Amino acid sequence: MFGLFATKGFKEYVKEARQVLKGNWTGEYTRPSSNLYPHQWNWDSAFIAIGNAHHDQRKAQQELKSLFAHQWPNGMVPQIIFNPKVLGHYFPEPDFWQVPDGRLTSGITMPPLHATACWHIYENAKDRAGARDFIEYMYPKLMALHRYLYRERDPDVSGLVYIRHPWESGLDNSPAWDKPLKRIRVDRKTLPSYERKDLKHGIPADQRPSDEDYDRYVYLVDLFRRLGYREEEIRKECPFMVKDVLFNSILCRADRDLLRIANVLKQDTAEVDGWMKRTSEAITRDLWCPECKQFESLDMVSGQLIHSATAAGFLPLFGGAASLEQAQIIYETIDSVAFCALHQGNCFTIPNYDMTREDFDSRNYWRGPVWININWMISKGLKGYGYKEKAEAMKRDMIQLPIRFGFHEYFDSRTGKGYGSDGFSWTTALFLDLVYEYYSEDRHRLDWLKSRRKTALKEKKVLNQISAGIGPSSATLASDLMSSIGKLKDSFYDLYRGRVDYEAMKQSPDYRHYQEMAVELRGFDLTTLSSREEKLAFWINLYNTVVVHGIVELGIKSSVKEIPNFFSHVAYHIGGFSFSPEAMEHGILRANARPPYRIVSVFGRKDSRLVFSLPKLDPRIHFALVCGSRSCAPIRFYEAEKIEEQLDRAAKNFVNSSEVIVLPEKNKVVLSQIFDWYNKDFGGREGIQRFLLRYLDRGQNMVVYPQKLVRGYPGISFL
Ligand code: GLC
Repeated sequence: MFGLFATKGFKEYVKEARQVLKGNWTGEYTRPSSNLYPHQWNWDSAFIAIGNAHHDQRKAQQELKSLFAHQWPNGMVPQIIFNPKVLGHYFPEPDFWQVPDGRLTSGITMPPLHATACWHIYENAKDRAGARDFIEYMYPKLMALHRYLYRERDPDVSGLVYIRHPWESGLDNSPAWDKPLKRIRVDRKTLPSYERKDLKHGIPADQRPSDEDYDRYVYLVDLFRRLGYREEEIRKECPFMVKDVLFNSILCRADRDLLRIANVLKQDTAEVDGWMKRTSEAITRDLWCPECKQFESLDMVSGQLIHSATAAGFLPLFGGAASLEQAQIIYETIDSVAFCALHQGNCFTIPNYDMTREDFDSRNYWRGPVWININWMISKGLKGYGYKEKAEAMKRDMIQLPIRFGFHEYFDSRTGKGYGSDGFSWTTALFLDLVYEYYSEDRHRLDWLKSRRKTALKEKKVLNQISAGIGPSSATLASDLMSSIGKLKDSFYDLYRGRVDYEAMKQSPDYRHYQEMAVELRGFDLTTLSSREEKLAFWINLYNTVVVHGIVELGIKSSVKEIPNFFSHVAYHIGGFSFSPEAMEHGILRANARPPYRIVSVFGRKDSRLVFSLPKLDPRIHFALVCGSRSCAPIRFYEAEKIEEQLDRAAKNFVNSSEVIVLPEKNKVVLSQIFDWYNKDFGGREGIQRFLLRYLDRGQNMVVYPQKLVRGYPGISFL
């Protein structure tokens, strides 16, 4: 019994991850890695703060504070803040940049993820007051950064800001920059002499940018230096000027988050709102490439979109800037062989460049490997637009890659092998973020067992009380109710936040109609359900309906965890009986099997509802019942005629999502706690193995695994 919350499959990896971040912490900021990148990097710090937010709020705050301490007077936040104590191991350093006033920074910027990181810290804060002080402190600085970008980098007020160096994109040698860079004719005689230091750390040259690329990077830095970093002059002379889709999408997301911050601080939001709308519209309109089936960056020198097919073109999902139609098209591109389709096998989701291109290279830096930061943003974007299955597949890979191959900078998109530096901070930080998200989203169903807080309902709450006369009820009532609440959920689904707006739903006439239908349940004759299939569909639908209904009626903010006895105390009256979700799940659908970690069944021996119990338990029901959290996947609608197929699908989706992580090298699987709690329903350990074998996709990463699984016991641990 006491094992319930004791086994956490990721525990050892979480510990290791925290150790890595601790090792890279300098006292003021976190280095991207100890050898290759000893200074502070702009967007790295934002990703690192996002991961640290969960277990060390103060450090997360400090990370951003120390970055912004070096903000330029014009508002720009530099790409690198140099640490004077460790100069000499990186190129270019301050002696080469020679920025105004002897500052120890580079003279370019990076994707402005900071408002998003600040909001993330605020949203996840344990110390709420501290977090509020923090966003209050950061707000003027964030405003100054966004003002700088819109003023200096978008003088035509197009809504799209430009970058003027590939390093500003964060994706140094992306294939997208090949063409614009080729235009730069470098005369080695006039180029200041320099020595690359990035190749001195044992990383093979073919996994890094080429010397030709480096010459051009240096050429641009030299130009900025000669022009004294005066933007107006740079704008006139710079041969590399791009309205980068990744940079602008991140800016658009940051605008949204800045707006949220401004709202909390009760600041005037007109300026930020204007930016957000302008950028969002400009991305949709000017960066969409219909024939590429994705977004692309705009080369300001040629006036053309750069047809580059990199993962950066999916970032408008993260920015919330893609239209629904565009999102659907992008989704199809993401889920194609070009970017490692779902269940394709022999690849990891998603490589950062089109795998079908001739120059795709699964090992070379920004030209084909998997990067956790890019995928973290894309999966968040996909989730926001409702593409949950793909988002989950990406999440699963983002978790398993570091576990299997180490906390590397980037990963081979075919084999998973880790490249670049190890102990890389943003990989580690975002891994932590994903694992924490896991824990907080999915420890839902039995959490109410843990504590009986004062928010518990004092008495049963019947959700279908009589308000009008009971009309005749039809046999399809459960499915009608279910489809009606499903439709309601869809119409109040907030695309950007990935949540249902339950408050608005409650006020709508459709909801009132739904309530009237629910009242009809009172007159429903349960004996009219005859076949097993009919019963399964009826009760699953009803369970899912009553949970959503309860969430709406009780005004639950984020999860049913807020009301510890939710599952036993909300109920529908049906044909003279009362059924709570608990009664439906355990009493009926689980054939009155004991709920986990309880001594008695829900229906006692004399309970008259016993006649409705299903004779046999089907463990697939566990993947068909909603979890009762606002962030849950949209509920599905079950039909008696298709129930077998539908339950198989639910089980398959679950088993192939990030709820089940297969670690073939370790002959180990890490499973959702559902398998722990309902161990018996699946037939114990061996039953779980059989179940997994039946539903696991044989494609991706599963090649080795089933054989091992059949031969011996895999190590099973629980999330
Ligand atoms: C490389 C990456 C860049 C990153 C930096 C430090 O330059 O291209 O995105 O910020 O390393 O990790």
